[in-house]
Order: sequence, then C-alpha cells, then structure tokens
Amino acid sequence: MRTRCDRTPAWGLLQAGFDSTGKNFDLRDAFASDPNRFANFSQDAPHVFADLSKNLINSTTQALLFDLARQCGLEAHRDAMFAGEAINSTENRAVMHFLLRNKPVAQYIPARAAIDKIADKAAEIEATLNAMLAFAEQTRADVGITDIVNIGIGGSDLGPQMAVLALDEFADKAKRFHFVSNVDGQELAGVLAQCRPQTTQFLIASKTFTTAETLLNAQSAKAWFEAHGGQHVDRHFAALTTNVAAANAFGITTTFGFWDWVGGRYSLWSAIGLPIAIAIGAKGFREFLAGAHAMDEHFCTVPLEQNLPVRLALLDVWYRNFHGFASRSIAPYSFPMRRLPAYLQQLEMESNGKRVDAQGESLPFETAPVLWGEPGTNGQHAYFQMLHQGTSVVPVEFIAVKNAANSLPGHHQKLLANVIAQAQALMLGKADAGGHKHFPGNRPSTFLLLDELTPASLGALLALQEHRVFVSGSIWGINSFDQWGVELGKVLAQDIELRLQSGEAAGLDGSTAGLLQRLRSSAR
Ligand code: F6P
Repeated sequence: MRTRCDRTPAWGLLQAGFDSTGKNFDLRDAFASDPNRFANFSQDAPHVFADLSKNLINSTTQALLFDLARQCGLEAHRDAMFAGEAINSTENRAVMHFLLRNKPVAQYIPARAAIDKIADKAAEIEATLNAMLAFAEQTRADVGITDIVNIGIGGSDLGPQMAVLALDEFADKAKRFHFVSNVDGQELAGVLAQCRPQTTQFLIASKTFTTAETLLNAQSAKAWFEAHGGQHVDRHFAALTTNVAAANAFGITTTFGFWDWVGGRYSLWSAIGLPIAIAIGAKGFREFLAGAHAMDEHFCTVPLEQNLPVRLALLDVWYRNFHGFASRSIAPYSFPMRRLPAYLQQLEMESNGKRVDAQGESLPFETAPVLWGEPGTNGQHAYFQMLHQGTSVVPVEFIAVKNAANSLPGHHQKLLANVIAQAQALMLGKADAGGHKHFPGNRPSTFLLLDELTPASLGALLALQEHRVFVSGSIWGINSFDQWGVELGKVLAQDIELRLQSGEAAGLDGSTAGLLQRLRSSAR
C-alpha cells in the first residue's frame, strides 16, 4: 500500500527535471513570465491563507510532486490514520489525536468501515473533555488561585506553553502561568520564589508519568509545598497523564487522563491542554479544537492539488531531497507566537528525524530538515544577514497576522511592512558589483497569513503543521510517530548519575571518564 518515494516513477522524473532545469529555476523570471503566479501558487485553507508563489517551483514540478504523493499511497495512508489503524508500527499504536478535536469526526472519515471503531470512543472522550473543562472553569473562578505552574517537558510543555503565550489576548489576566520543564533546578526554584503554596495550582503533565525531569521537578515542588505550609496536595496538585496509577502512587488524586493513541507532541488537544483551557476558558478551548477540526476536514476531503498540508509537505520534500536544503527557518511576525519555532522543532524533528523507513531499512535520502527561528523582527537583527547573503539557502516560513488584537499605534503596520519586505528582499536580491553589498536573491519563502490570531485560527495553524509533517513522513516512508532516538541518552544518564556519586570510571571511554572526574571535583 505504501511505496517509498525513491521507488516511484515520479521520483526519477523529479530528479531528471531538477538536473535539467529545476536547479536553475529563477523566481524573478517565473514572476515575469506568469502574471498570475501569485494566484496560481497560493492556497486558502480554513483560517490560513498561504502564498506559495515565492518557492522554487513551477507547475510541471508541482504536478510531478502530486504524482509522487499518489504513487506513495499518501491518501490511503492518511485514511488508515483516520480509520484508527495502528500506523505507529514500532509501538503498535493507532494515531488518533484528531479524535480529540470534535465529536462528529466520523462524518468525514473517508474509510467508512472504520466509523464504528472510532465512534465508540466519542463518549469517553467527551466525558474526559467535560471534566477537564469543568476543572478549568472552577480554577478560573477561584480567586484564591493566582499562579498556575505546569511541570512537564517536550510535548507536555512546548505545546501548552506556546499556546498560552499565543492566546494571551484571550487569557484570564488574574492568573499567572509558569511552565517548568528543565531538570536544572534553577528553573523551578525561580518559579517557586514567585509563588505561595496556598495560591498555587500545580499541574504535573506527563503522558507516561515516568519522565525523569518531570518526576524530580514534581517531587521538589511537592516538598516545597509541604515545607512552606501548604495543605491539601489533593487540591493543589493535579496530574495530566495516561498513567493514572503512577500519578496516584505519587500522591495525586486529581487526574485527567488521555490515551496511548495520542502522541506526546500531538497532545495539547488532550488533558495536556489544561493550562490552555484555564487561560482561555472552556468556550475558547472548544474553539481551539474546532479550528483544528476544520483543518482536519480540509486535509481529509480536499483534493491533493488544493490541499494545503499536502502542498507544504511536497515543497519540503522538493527542497530537502532535490535542492538539498538542510534547514527551514520559522519566522512568526507575531510576538505572541514567539514559542512557535520551539514547538515546531519537536513536531518536525522528533517525528521525521529518522534514518530508517517503517520497515527498519536504511534510507538512501535525507529526511527532516533542521527547524529553527525567532520571532520577527528580532531575527532580522541576528541571523537574517546569513539568510540574505550566506552561502547556504534556507527556505523561510513567514507567519503573519493581518489584524493585531492589541498593538500600539503604528506598530502593526511597521511589523507587516517588515515581513513583506523580507520576503521580497530574499526573492529579488540586489545587484552590486562590489560583492559585499550584492544580494543574490532567488531565496525561497512561504508566507502564511491568519486574519486574526484566535483560538480557532491557532488551532487550524497547528493542525496544518501536524498534517504537513505527516505527509512528508509518509512520502519518506518512515514512522513519524515513534521517538526511539531519545532513549539512549536517558539510559546512559542513569548510569552516569550513579558514577557521579561513586566516582567509578571503570569501563568508560576516555572522554567520558575525564569529564566525570572534572565534574566530580568541581561539584565539591
Ligand atoms: O523524551 C521524549 C518524550 O518522550 C517526548 O516524546 C514527550 O513529549 C516527552 O518526552 C515527555 O514525555 P511525557 O509526557 O511522558 O513526560
């Protein structure tokens, strides 16, 4: 059913096209020869408009990329995911975070036979969501709670933190939100110094409830709470986890669960989203889910040629595998979305940073690019020099919001002028014989535009990114839903921690033994 991209006829044709003319494609010539290029290479999707016209692509390449997607069996793979098949093969799990986004999901599932299989989960999902949203509303109404401290890492931190910041305009201003992820105790200590036990609600967010950093931070938070006169751990600590038994054993009785078919980096739609729900309320959280659901519907029902997640992912494949571009820069020209690059790093690189296909066979081509970035206009005064004049081409993804919710006079227009100008400058360049002031131009970018930054539009933007990662992973033939690459370091850290205590260096390589001795002596 799935055919790996390099084994399709389209792959060879794309390579031949790249070798003959594709590698010399020039955006300026493309716009000169096609007055409708902007319209031809832009795409409306729910809550998101995308200008794809400043990408190194013509209609012939684009048609071949759609052929590639079809020849890889993308639609069948997508339908398998939405039908609840165990597409996460190494963990034998289904991948169904989209189920959390709306009840009548079954109405558009292309694989009709699977509807019953999925629909029987609807009541449990709705009951869990209702319980979580009731808790959120109760916490919002409780004037005695001033601080919400979320303790979690990876997907149990990045998504909720990014969304709470992004939706600040909609947030309850009577509460302060803190996100503690790092095992470096300076982070937790700094947050606790700002809190009082009686007025703090701790949320221990961990899908597995086994993550070392989170458990140590949770233990330290509980010890601080009790040492500073806190009472009623049961009221001031809640756990967001699939491992309710472990949370109970830890001493937390208020728990909000989810399921193994929700991956960590896809979990902000679940109980892991509780900080978001406390910030923006039950109604806002449901709008957030509905925005994502609208993008699910787009992804499932719109032909590939007008399907935005598919179009973005095919560009990603074209750049990574044919142009050889190693990274993508994320440039949200929206201060509230300042943590989006960090969130997208986990989404893309933990999902698609793989070197074997779903059958475990080594891949002869590149997979996930490096994602990186800072909000605009800050990045302009740091690394945009390299984007404009460096030796490597880095496709840039600009993300802008048409109407700012809360800006000072003149600011938003200047911000928008900058984002448009940067995309323009990257493409047009500027000739200068002297060399130093020469801008080569022809540097690609995508421009994503939201009318407004709302719970619904943020939900749609995130679901768009999730599906885009799914599509490129599907074409590369990999399992985008496991993360074995994070395990080895975790295991070794346990051994090193014991050696830091004992000083035992036997059996270690020279560098590790040397660092161990240095760190042991400096720790005294
Ligand atoms: O170490 C990687 C990882 O498993 C991520 O996939 C996950 O988001 C994160 O750790 C946190 O895991 P948990 O929510 O189980 O604590």
